[in-house]
Amino acid sequence: MKGLILAGGHGTRLRPLTFTGNKHMIPIANEPILYHGLRNLAEAGIREVAIILGPIQEGIQEGVGDGSRFGLQVTYIQQGEPKGLAHAVLCAREFLGEDPFVMYLGDNLLQDGVLPFLRAYEREHPDAVVGVTPVSEPSHYGIIELEGEKILSIEEKPAKPKSSLALIGVYLFTAKIHPIIEKLRPSKRGELEITEAIWRFLESGARILPLHLEGWWKDTGLPMDLLDANEKVLGSLPAERMRVEGVIADGASVHGLVAIGAGSLVEAGATIEGPAMLGRNVRIGAGSHVGPSSTLGDGVELSGASVRRSILLEGARIVGPVRIADSLIGRKVLLSARHPSPEEIALIVGDAAQIRL
Ligand code: TTP
Repeated sequence: MKGLILAGGHGTRLRPLTFTGNKHMIPIANEPILYHGLRNLAEAGIREVAIILGPIQEGIQEGVGDGSRFGLQVTYIQQGEPKGLAHAVLCAREFLGEDPFVMYLGDNLLQDGVLPFLRAYEREHPDAVVGVTPVSEPSHYGIIELEGEKILSIEEKPAKPKSSLALIGVYLFTAKIHPIIEKLRPSKRGELEITEAIWRFLESGARILPLHLEGWWKDTGLPMDLLDANEKVLGSLPAERMRVEGVIADGASVHGLVAIGAGSLVEAGATIEGPAMLGRNVRIGAGSHVGPSSTLGDGVELSGASVRRSILLEGARIVGPVRIADSLIGRKVLLSARHPSPEEIALIVGDAAQIRL
């Protein structure tokens, strides 16, 4: 079994917000989104993995390297222009050979990883396994209509959805999918669609097994999705991942599951309420508060500020009596406030912005 992680794409929903770099490298619980996928593949016993790269790829190869840190052998494949999910499979044709493979959209997170897909495949030997889960806004997803295990229809982002069951971003295919993909033509939006490939695969007589997910699943295309994913991941991390390597000064108060990286300092008079994850060289000054579901990247500083259910990327600084919640704060942002904010504020702030409230 091989693994294929897609980390190409334009990332058009995040880029206008001036989050520089590749969206798959944005940290969730202080680890790039992409690494969660790599770990999922490694935990399922997969060793050979290819990562699909697109037009924006800064940091991926530098971060992942040869994959040995994850127990994987990682190969990189250049897709160039993102011409669709099925096009990415076409680009990986040589790497995939005749092996079955798990295809994993690199911006997706799922609680139970990919092992349930492998188990379903080993148990029933279908030609494909597709993960499905109910969603509240079906017109944003690839939607599958089922009658028991029988697939009645599959449609990409339908205007009039026939069901509320979405195809999630993880699929298992046998090599029989390749001739189907080779015959695909671009859709109206100019992409080779994986939903169309699955439908044609089915029409060719393939047995496609829908797998109902038990745990949560999150596609992280939008900032709000990143915050949801951060909350979910922090809420389900095992206690052993929550290590305190930094210093908690006397007179600071830390409750719940909290990870504090090396070189970090929680000063007297500061409070932290987990689950929360602080990277390295973070400084939580006196009078500051870190509330649940917060991830603070390396070098983040809070001076008298309060943060809850937010992601602060590396080097962000918040100075003054401001209270932020449900916020995504970019790298090296400086946010300063002279007067206390009457209520919590929610901010999506791109890298290197300077804001004085
Ligand atoms: P999408 O979310 O469909 O597209 P995108 O990443 O370009 O983002 P946006 O919608 O904001 O423009 O992509 C899903 C995943 O698949 C994502 O991890 C990027 C990856 N991908 C590729 O690797 N190649 C492709 O051709 C496409 C379309 C996506």
